[in-house]
Amino acid sequence: MSATLNIAVSAARAAGSLIIRSLNQLDALQVTTKSRNEFVTEVDRQAEVEIIRVIRKAYPDHAFLAEESGEHGTGESLWIIDPLDGTTNFLHGFPQFAVSIALQISGRLECGVVYDPMRQELFTAERGGGAQLDGRRIRVSKRTSLEEALIGTGFPYRANLDWAETYLAMLRDVMQNTAGLRRPGAAALDLAYVAAGRLDGFWEFGLAPWDIAAGTLMIREAGGRISDFEGGDGFMQSGHVVGGNPKVYAQLSRLLAPHYARGRQAASAQRATDPAPGNTAQK
Ligand code: IPD
Ligand code: CA
Ligand code: CA
Repeated sequence: MSATLNIAVSAARAAGSLIIRSLNQLDALQVTTKSRNEFVTEVDRQAEVEIIRVIRKAYPDHAFLAEESGEHGTGESLWIIDPLDGTTNFLHGFPQFAVSIALQISGRLECGVVYDPMRQELFTAERGGGAQLDGRRIRVSKRTSLEEALIGTGFPYRANLDWAETYLAMLRDVMQNTAGLRRPGAAALDLAYVAAGRLDGFWEFGLAPWDIAAGTLMIREAGGRISDFEGGDGFMQSGHVVGGNPKVYAQLSRLLAPHYARGRQAASAQRATDPAPGNTAQK
């Protein structure tokens, strides 16, 4: 394991312990929804501070792009961090959340960690070095037909609600053409599950770089494919993602692409009739 991956693993484990300790406190907290929310926001923040502290100790001049504190530092080496992916699950005690950490150097993903502190499962990947679960090599599934595939997804919300109609049409189509659908609620873990062959494919709109970075490297190193809905590499910017084992990825992409094209067309028609400034039409 490279030195950078080692540091990422230490950081993820440290954040994971903090999250589990906090979950126990959360269970004991007999208080209002507001203070529970504030407590959970504080857990996100503290986990992120811990991750950055561990990494910075080893690499004082690296830069960070982290969900809670944003972008800081400059240079070619950028750590992309989601300290707690699946916050809503955590808040409800639904045991599906993770820490996600990736290192990008000169725009290329070099290593990634997704750590599930409930199951103590550690997913790792290094460019050219494959993907592992708890140190053992993982590969995407061998399933070849979409009809037999188990597909993960996430619902568009907040800024991505513009995509709701397109998404629902996709959902209907995927529902009718696959063995099953899951919405576990932690995108970084969903991608790690694709890498491990637990899911055969996945799609979602409007994810953030910290949701996707580590899982993307994992899927690629496990022999899978991941792209935007047009087969392009721009998904770190758009957040629109489809992935899977090569066969399921191809079939799922083919199923989703026409819906996406129609959604974009509708959005540009809407922009033409309503070119108001601040119109937040779909990208
Ligand atoms: C969210 C989770 C969820 C996905 C959302 C993300 P957060 O991350 O990954 O599965 O559907 O788009 O924002 O807010 O819990 O870190
Ligand atoms: Ca997230
Ligand atoms: Ca988060």
